[in-house]
Amino acid sequence: MSKAIINANRSKGIINKNIYGQFSEHLGRCIYNGIYVDENAGIPHENGMRTDVVRALKDLHIPVLRWPGGCFADTYHWQDGIGPREGRKKIVNTFWGGVTEDNSFGTHEFLELCRQLGCEPYISGNVGSGTVQEFSDWVEYCNMGGQSPMADLRRANGREEPWHVKYWGIGNETWGCGGNMRPAFYADLCRQYATYLRAYDGAHPLCRIASGANADDYLWTKELMEIAGGFVDAVSFHYYTVPDSWEHKGSALNFSREAYFAALRRALRMDELVENHSRIIRQYQGERKVGLVVDEWGTWFDVEPGTNPGFLYQQNTMRDALVAAVSLNIFNNHCDTVVMANIAQLVNVLQAMILTEGGKMLLTPTYHVFEMYKNHQDARQLESYVETSLTGAAGENRVPNLHISASQSSDGTVLITAANLDDEQGAALDCALAGLGRIGSITGRLLSGPAGAHNTFDKPEAVRPAALEHIQTTADGFKAALPPCCVAAFEVRPA
Ligand code: AHR
Repeated sequence: MSKAIINANRSKGIINKNIYGQFSEHLGRCIYNGIYVDENAGIPHENGMRTDVVRALKDLHIPVLRWPGGCFADTYHWQDGIGPREGRKKIVNTFWGGVTEDNSFGTHEFLELCRQLGCEPYISGNVGSGTVQEFSDWVEYCNMGGQSPMADLRRANGREEPWHVKYWGIGNETWGCGGNMRPAFYADLCRQYATYLRAYDGAHPLCRIASGANADDYLWTKELMEIAGGFVDAVSFHYYTVPDSWEHKGSALNFSREAYFAALRRALRMDELVENHSRIIRQYQGERKVGLVVDEWGTWFDVEPGTNPGFLYQQNTMRDALVAAVSLNIFNNHCDTVVMANIAQLVNVLQAMILTEGGKMLLTPTYHVFEMYKNHQDARQLESYVETSLTGAAGENRVPNLHISASQSSDGTVLITAANLDDEQGAALDCALAGLGRIGSITGRLLSGPAGAHNTFDKPEAVRPAALEHIQTTADGFKAALPPCCVAAFEVRPA
């Protein structure tokens, strides 16, 4: 029996809903075909956005969507993607497959997608190959309400009202694909760009997000905070779960037990990374709070055999579901500093929510985790503890068998999300809730299956959540049996 304690007397604060953010890049079949379709493709759409994909994504209550990259962002010149479609410049997507980018999906289309999804846009601007003027004009184009050259251009392109885009990323991976800069150089550039990203309306302040470190490059965060911390609202970092090495990422579907636990161990490292970057930010932030944004995270495996290596298309199994579950638990439990996170990526790329093939689509196990966790958004994080034992393959890839987080919504409902990482042993959970008063009802949902279980276009519902049966109410909480390799979500309602 594993004891768990949810303590409603202690909280780190509200879980920023933006932790459940997503990322969509002009990469492979994420935007084109995955979200945005040609009107002659015979796929139902609204203003070019696939209705099946948008309908499914709306159930996730996506709070914020990052675009247009990624590495693509630092090659992107936004004026190529506005105005009549026939006149838009056709460029080469040099980072991702060398394919033609016809710019048919640009600023207006992205903001239309956000409207349909009901989410906030997060635009990553071009610092690597752009100019301060170009970036500043983009903000003016999106946000200026009165008369100005860019506001007039927007109106000429059919949009009267400004969109009031709040979230702006100042470059992407500027230590790598975004310019191969050194931290002090980027930090100075960041100050310069931040100066000219203007809020055009006092009622709509901007959130300026600095391009942050690669994984555990703490020196980057330190220099960035020291030099530019006073000019930005948040600092990002990127961390991907790669089981072995970048050279040997391994298959998304056919993996050994060793690779299963290696991926989970690497995913759990997110805790240490968030903790350490947060400490540095706190040390240098002064009076003004600077948030931490994990604007790229998720699994990165070899592409599916036979697919374009530049398109980063990979399948998605229960292993991915567990990576998502522990990562979201970690972000929830660091909600005092993590203000946003964006899993890579929305459709057909890396750890996607949805995979498509022509007019068909399927929901991945990762999608279901986001759906089961969605009520953590804007809820009050609750302190939680679970008794664990180590499980895993021999050697260094041992991980705790259980992982949890908990929150309480404004209506009093407590959501407890728990993952059993053990692929062979089930776990009996005995969960006590403190500081909550009398418990009314408890329900549970469960996503489970063998580590390699996944959905295909022939069997799109092989992995999907089911009701968790036989939850037993106790004097101070409940008991439930968790099968091996599962993600569970319990909703406890007050009496
Ligand atoms: O998400 C895929 C790529 O990973 C992004 O373009 C880049 O920022 C990162 O290296």
